Amino acid sequence: MHTTTTIRDFRAARAGLDTLGFVPTMGFLHEGHLSLVRQAKRECGTAAVSIFVNPAQFGPNEDLARYPRDLNHDLALLGEAGADLVFMPGVEEIYPPGYRTYVTVEGLTERLESAIRPGHFRGVATVVCKLLNIVQAEKAYFGQKDAQQCMVIDQMARDLAIPTAIVIAPTVREPDGLAMSSRNVYLSPEDRRAATVLIRALHAAEQAHNAGERDAERLREIVRGVLASEPRGQPDYVSCADPLTLQELDAVGQQGALLSLAVRFGTTRLLDKALLGGIQPSALSPQPSALSL
Ligand code: PAJ
Repeated sequence: MHTTTTIRDFRAARAGLDTLGFVPTMGFLHEGHLSLVRQAKRECGTAAVSIFVNPAQFGPNEDLARYPRDLNHDLALLGEAGADLVFMPGVEEIYPPGYRTYVTVEGLTERLESAIRPGHFRGVATVVCKLLNIVQAEKAYFGQKDAQQCMVIDQMARDLAIPTAIVIAPTVREPDGLAMSSRNVYLSPEDRRAATVLIRALHAAEQAHNAGERDAERLREIVRGVLASEPRGQPDYVSCADPLTLQELDAVGQQGALLSLAVRFGTTRLLDKALLGGIQPSALSPQPSALSL
């Protein structure tokens, strides 16, 4: 496994390789990240991973300074998962003095997470665009857990004719259903237990949808009702939106719905989502068998 911190070294190492699959991350890796790395390796033969905690996607009152990091452990995990190239630049390598260019995906970035984290997706789109330019991979892999992020990146790649194919992979969960996240380590043992309320709330709405409920507000109410049973969690939003435009729906129609939620436990925000029915847009469709919660 070859590790580099500079764009120049990365490019030199990349030049000797053929088909490359790329997994951008912010480190503190868990099975969710590693499943993307294994998929990249399997499909492309060679896997590159970036580890970069991107300041541009954190708001002034967010957790940039305390974002969990453990580079040595990450490198050990990446070695086991079969990564070939690891790019771990410092902030000045990505944003040198005088840096001025940012990527904004309009429309999609005004709802859900963006309403609460203004500027977040501008930071994500900017760094992913730059990383894709550096890495020059055939395919880049993203987790469906961050559904809005997948949509923003897919839109950006299409709009800017980025030649890397964007692949969306299913959410990896803990045995009790909590979506794996680097931020789960912030949870107190009590909050960690309480956090299963996210998947329970999504399951309840999914069951209602399967039983024929199509009223979007009713589905949101079902989610809110389950979330309210757990007073440790404070919902930021519960959304039942069009999976293509992210506009809130009145009724779930042919296009299905993206049900998504963000819940705060103390200062830790957890996200989760479910896709209800419909033909899913490519930006949200994982590999066949995997369209599950
Ligand atoms: P990070 O949170 O480190 O996640 C890196 C990738 O792993 C993302 O595509 C994310 O969706 C995926 N991922 C996280 N948890 C997952 C899980 N439980 N199952 C499957 N995939 C999971 O997302 C980011 O970093 C950043 O915004 C980034 C895209 C790297 C840009 O800075």
